[in-house]
Amino acid sequence: MLGDAVLRHRTRVAEHSARIEGEVASRVKSEFISNMSHELRTPLNTVVGFSKLLSEHGRRHLKDDEIVQYATLIHDSAGHLLAVINDILDISKIQSGKYTLDASEIALDQVLQISIASLELMAAEAGVTVETEIATDLPMIRGDSVKLRQVFTNIISNGIKFTRSGGVVTVRAFRMPDGSTLVEIADTGIGMSEEDVKIALTPFGQVDSSRARWREGMGLGLPISKSLIELHSGQLSIVSEKDVGTTVSVVLPSRHSVTALNQNDDVRLGVRNDERFAPAI
Ligand SMILES: Nc1ncnc2c1ncn2[C@@H]1O[C@H](COP(=O)(O)OP(=O)(O)O)[C@@H](O)[C@H]1O
Ligand SMILES: [Mg+2]
Repeated sequence: MLGDAVLRHRTRVAEHSARIEGEVASRVKSEFISNMSHELRTPLNTVVGFSKLLSEHGRRHLKDDEIVQYATLIHDSAGHLLAVINDILDISKIQSGKYTLDASEIALDQVLQISIASLELMAAEAGVTVETEIATDLPMIRGDSVKLRQVFTNIISNGIKFTRSGGVVTVRAFRMPDGSTLVEIADTGIGMSEEDVKIALTPFGQVDSSRARWREGMGLGLPISKSLIELHSGQLSIVSEKDVGTTVSVVLPSRHSVTALNQNDDVRLGVRNDERFAPAI
């Protein structure tokens, strides 16, 4: 009889947790579908609409500047679609353990400078200043420079995206006593509560859907970044306070402690990463 009771109890617990899991899954799923519909359909509508206009040039006699404007809109929208699709492919490869890194010796300061330079325009448009404090004695690290650029571009662009005009994003990088490198990206932006941070690190999680819609995105940047850093045997952590700002810290080990990187890759290897759609530029 005791056995029966335990069994019934276990069944109830299992049913309960299955129900909760189901509820979370369906919430994430419906949020994902509404995000998808915004992130994919808006740019697709632009592509469809403006390419139709261009194709009717014979009848419409478009002016040169209109043609350039429509082509630019199509190009930007297609670029956005590509980025969204790449993010979705990335997260699914990461989740299935089929992600590969191309490891080489890299100078992190260069990776950071390139990431910052690519966001200059975005920062200028947002009225946000990007400051740097990058030590000159950073050790070389072993890693995938394209992936690390993706990580830092995403974190710094978040800093810019979620900071109001007049705010500052500071990128610091220095060598730790144990030979690892610490990179901190600190902003004076809208910040997040502790719970928000957890949501932000969950795939497709956006802290507050209404606010997130104010700033577009799929909620994949941070989970991908965290996984990519962990594939480098590093760590990514976030400290944030609402209305004060956010600091994202990334620790990357020195190249001596990650000599296993390539060997691990072979184990994980399945789908090569260059299967991703490569940007045409
Ligand atoms: N620096 C930041 N300050 C405040 N909120 C942030 C910051 N970075 C990320 N977030 C929150 O975390 C969410 C997820 O970020 P991310 O994974 O990069 O996805 P996305 O940028 O596509 O929304 C963002 O939508 C935002 O709500
Ligand atoms: Mg982002």
